[in-house]
Amino acid sequence: MLKLAQRMGRAKPSAIMAVAEKAKALKASGRDIISFSIGVPNFLPGAHVYAAAAASLQKDSGQYGSNRGADALLDAFLKHIEAIGLTGYTRANCSTGIGAKHVLYSLAEALLDEGDTIAYAVPYWTTYADIADILGAKSLQLPCPASQNYKLTPAQLDAALATKPKVFLFNNPSNPTGMVYTRDEVAALADVIAKYPDTWIITDDIYNRMVFDSLGYHNFVHFRPELRDRVIFVDSLSKTYGMPGWRVGFIAGPESVAKALTTLNSNHITNIPEVITAAGVAALSGPQDVPTTKNAEFQAKRDQVMAVMNSIPGLICPRPQGAFYVFPDISCAFGKSHGGTKINNDVDFCNALLEAKGVACVPGSAFGEPKSLRISYTCPTPQLAPGLQRFQEFFAELT
Ligand SMILES: Cc1ncc(COP(=O)(O)O)c(C=O)c1O
Repeated sequence: MLKLAQRMGRAKPSAIMAVAEKAKALKASGRDIISFSIGVPNFLPGAHVYAAAAASLQKDSGQYGSNRGADALLDAFLKHIEAIGLTGYTRANCSTGIGAKHVLYSLAEALLDEGDTIAYAVPYWTTYADIADILGAKSLQLPCPASQNYKLTPAQLDAALATKPKVFLFNNPSNPTGMVYTRDEVAALADVIAKYPDTWIITDDIYNRMVFDSLGYHNFVHFRPELRDRVIFVDSLSKTYGMPGWRVGFIAGPESVAKALTTLNSNHITNIPEVITAAGVAALSGPQDVPTTKNAEFQAKRDQVMAVMNSIPGLICPRPQGAFYVFPDISCAFGKSHGGTKINNDVDFCNALLEAKGVACVPGSAFGEPKSLRISYTCPTPQLAPGLQRFQEFFAELT
């Protein structure tokens, strides 16, 4: 029998999609399901984005394009990141990909040889571990439990970087926790990074426009400009502009890394299609009222979710300040039962919640933290309050 490559034995389908699929199947069977599972923004981009895509269709838009990304797209991205203080980059510092996920995969291919180590905080976005596994890299996972607000401390980072991992992957604001590092916290981590010149730094900061409470977005290079020759900033249109399926991701970083990604593009994808490029330019450089309004809406929804989390006895829930996730520690429910169903862990909890109340959440073990679960609160607004009420009732009914 013919065998697949060994790396396929290490590749897993997304655990998040598995929950979403189950919720979808229950819905199709007629159940009333409220999904807090997938991290989709659930809004549409502005009309100017569709207009730009439509106008592009009228032209000869089906040709091969630049492996790095069209100049117009790179220029729009450069202007866009200037607004968050990432200045002085040129097109040569940038490259693009089919979403941040593809960009992150290519970065891992470009920076990690088999057996190299990539360090990142736990809880982590599931794909980090999966990409490392597929490529045969070692994951150095740095536990950041709810008791430390799911955030990495300078001492933890210091100890990790002292072991000289090839890459440190940082995610701020965080998926799955929604936590945002403050100005001082980012500055303190940047001081640690500056001590260890042997490690590449990837900042997966695709939620950088989704920050609440006037906290602002901060990057290591704001505090330590000398880190620019090894910090790679990752961004995406998916969440900010309500364009997850349009698939546009970016980096800004050292020229050598941008060139490596461009070379990989020339062998993987060739280019981002021109129609998508036109839409991306319009999103980045057109009116910004959709992302601004949505951010305010998400902040209000965060408050609504947190009011319920704070009302549940025993639940521990650090208050998120960005993205659109809440990540409660639900371990107080372990060992209890719901309607005769015993709950021993996060997966039991999520299955019982879905069966009994029709509410879909993702077990924390998908993100390396089995004491918790993830709530993505981007569902249609009228569903949020009933979904939260069912969550609350489920807890009240535990025996
Ligand atoms: C932290 C993080 N990075 C990257 C991605 C990938 O985003 P994209 O849709 O641009 O591939 C996601 C998507 O959920 C994410 O949460």
